[in-house]
Amino acid sequence: MKLILLGPPGAGKGTQAEILSKKLGINTISTGVMLRTAIREKTELGMIADKYINDGKLVPDDVVVGIVKERLNQEDCKKGFILDGFPRTTAQAEALSETGIEIDKVLSLEVSDKEIIKRLSGRRECKSCGTPYHIEFKPSKKGDVCEVCGGELIQRADDNEETIRHRIKIYHEQTEPIKDYYKKSGKLVIAYGEEELADTTKAVSKALGLE
Ligand code: AP5
Repeated sequence: MKLILLGPPGAGKGTQAEILSKKLGINTISTGVMLRTAIREKTELGMIADKYINDGKLVPDDVVVGIVKERLNQEDCKKGFILDGFPRTTAQAEALSETGIEIDKVLSLEVSDKEIIKRLSGRRECKSCGTPYHIEFKPSKKGDVCEVCGGELIQRADDNEETIRHRIKIYHEQTEPIKDYYKKSGKLVIAYGEEELADTTKAVSKALGLE
């Protein structure tokens, strides 16, 4: 399965990607995780991405397209992958199409703007492996540390209300139009992600024809 997860910030893309990755035995490629890792490691890419991410803006297309193409060329992607957070603009969708890689399905996870603010203000993530948690809806079974790797749980720098509102605006202006792009090719499926985690996971499986 070569799958794209679309959806506004906080829709649950990272959470569902983690579940699908285990279920399907394929890796997730999250541009957000890749960029935040680069920022932490203070690489050249991280220096470029830092300001954009903290302001809730998109990192320029050429930068993101470059890192995704490089990642998709790696051996593990041949059996399938889940793209989380890419493409995010029509230009990125076109660049992906030009690679010749055939995408099977594009899942749009739909959540209202009001729910997004609630989710993102309570979100925590593992500083080491990026696994997402929520203080109320998905707390770590190990308390203050990550269930997967024992890493420290932190709040993302772009999860403050002003930046969240800006990210939502950018999503509606620049990313939502991609739905039409994939609708035309018959690959778009929709799941409503407003319900609690278990119900959303069921809706995702159903939309992808996995149950
Ligand atoms: P990125 O990391 O991709 O962030 P995002 O798209 O804004 O999405 P989030 O990670 O905030 O949310 P999510 O949908 O994964 O939700 P999650 O599962 O965590 O990108 C960050 C930045 O990087 C961008 O703003 C941009 O600057 C840059 N960037 C990345 N890709 C780029 C690209 N292609 N081009 C240009 N720039 C790019 O869930 C959220 C919370 O809700 C969690 O706490 C979770 O536990 C909880 N939750 C999940 N599902 C449910 C549920 N059903 N019920 C209750 N709680 C739930």
